[in-house]
Amino acid sequence: MSELDQVTLNAGDKAVALPVLKPTLGNSCIDIAKLPKETGCFTYDPGFTATAACKSAITYIDGDAGVLLYRGYPIEQLANQSSFLEVAYLLMNGELPNKTQFDAFDHEVAHHTMMHEAFKNFLGGFRHDAHPMAMMVGMVGSMASFYHNTLDLEDPEQRRLAAIRLIAKVPTIAAACHRYSIGWPVRFPRNNLEYVDRFLHMMFEVPSEPLELPPVAAKALDLLFILHADHEQNASTSTVRLVGSTGANPYACVAAGVAALWGPAHGGANEAVLKMLAEIGDVKNVQSAVDKAKDKESGFRLMGFGHRVYKNFDPRAKIIREMCHQVLNELGVNDPLLDVAMKLEEAALKDDYFVQRKLYPNVDFYSGIIYKALKIPTEMFTVMFAIARTAGWVAHWLEQQEDPEAKIGRPRQIYTGYDKREYVGVDKR
Ligand code: CMC
Repeated sequence: MSELDQVTLNAGDKAVALPVLKPTLGNSCIDIAKLPKETGCFTYDPGFTATAACKSAITYIDGDAGVLLYRGYPIEQLANQSSFLEVAYLLMNGELPNKTQFDAFDHEVAHHTMMHEAFKNFLGGFRHDAHPMAMMVGMVGSMASFYHNTLDLEDPEQRRLAAIRLIAKVPTIAAACHRYSIGWPVRFPRNNLEYVDRFLHMMFEVPSEPLELPPVAAKALDLLFILHADHEQNASTSTVRLVGSTGANPYACVAAGVAALWGPAHGGANEAVLKMLAEIGDVKNVQSAVDKAKDKESGFRLMGFGHRVYKNFDPRAKIIREMCHQVLNELGVNDPLLDVAMKLEEAALKDDYFVQRKLYPNVDFYSGIIYKALKIPTEMFTVMFAIARTAGWVAHWLEQQEDPEAKIGRPRQIYTGYDKREYVGVDKR
C-alpha cells in the first residue's frame, strides 16, 4: 500500500495537491475530483483500468496474489464451509448470520419465490427459440412493473425487501425461461427444498414422476453459485451501480446487470468456452487452436482464459477444477470435451505467449463442463451466472443507496468529432 498522503500534479506553472485515499486493503487511490476545476483537464482511462468509481466494503480482490475475499472471508473457506444462501446473506448484510438469522432469511427468501401469474403471459410473448438471457433481461426488468408505484427507495426496509425478492425470484424466472424454451409447463417453486435444490426441481421436474437428483448436483451448483456471487466492480456490477445512481427502480438496475453479464467478455464466456471446446473437438486439434489464439489477425481468443484483475491465477478456477473432476467421477460422465479442456490448459500454460501475458484459466473455463454434466443446456450457462451474481448485484445496489458520497454516474469524454459547422441544405450536399 502506498505511504503517500498526497501527490502533486504539475499543470504548467500550477502545482495541484491531490489527496491519496487509503483503503483497508489494496491500492491507494489518488482523489482527482478537483482536477477539472484546478487544471481544466479531465482524466482519460478507457475501460476504467486505473479508476475506482466508488468506495465498497463488500468484496476484495488481489489479482497478483490470487486472493478473493467476501466481506473479509477467503473464497476457499466459504467454498468449503458455507452455502450460497448464507453467502448471499453475508454479502447483503456484512456479517455471517447466526442460526436464527439464517433461518429467518431462508424462510423469507423461500416465501418470495413465486411469480405473479401475469408473468406467464409475458413469458408467452417470447419466440419459442429466444435465447434465455434475452428472456432474462426482459423478465427481470418486468419485475419493475409489478413493484414500482409503491416502492419508496428512501425506506431501508423496502430496499431490503426488493433485494430479497430478486434473490428469491430470479431462479424461478430462470427456470421458467428454460422450460418455456423446451415447451414444458412452468413448475412452481417448492418451499420445502433448499435454494439450489428448489431451482434444480423447477428446471427438471416433470409432473408425471418424481425427480431423483444425485447429491453431487446440488453440491456442485451451490459451489458454483458461491464462486460467482460477487466480484467487486466488474462490468455487470458497475452497470447495476451506474443505473442505480440515477435512482432507477432496483429491478430495472438488475435487468441492466443481466444485459451486461451476457457478453462473451464477461459472463457469456462460459457458454463460449463450451462452444469453443466443441469446435476444437479433439485433443489433436488443440495446438492449432492455441496457435490461432496467438495470431492477432485471426480475431480468435481462448475463451475462459485471461482476466482483467487476476494476473497470477483465478482462485475460483482452482476450486472449480477440483469440483469438475468430482462431478464427472461421481456421475460417471466420460466427457471428451474435458480431455480437450485439459490438453488446452496444459498447452496454453507452457506457451510463452500466455505465460508472458499472464493468461490463466478463469472461473468460466471449468464451470461450463460442470453445467454440461448436470444436463444444463449451454444457452443456460450465463443464466446460471446471473442467478448467482444477483446476490452481489443487490448487495452493491443496497450499499450504493446508503452511500453519502454516491453521485449520479456521468463519465466525461475526449471529443474527436467535428468543430462547429454550418448546416447545409439537402440540395447542396
Ligand atoms: N486468448 C488470447 N489472447 C488473449 C486472451 C485470450 N483469452 N486474453 C487476453 N489476450 C491477450 C490480448 O490479445 C493482449 O495481447 P497484447 O498485449 O499482445 O495486445 C493481452 O493478452 C492483454 O489482453 P487485454 O484484452 O488487454 O486484457 P483485458 O484485461 O482487457 O481483458 C479479458 C480481460 C477477460 C476480457 C480477456 O482476457 C478475454 O477476452 N478473455 C476471454 C474471455 C473470457 O474468458 N472472459 C471471462 C472473464 S472471467 C469471468 C468474468 O469475470 O466475467
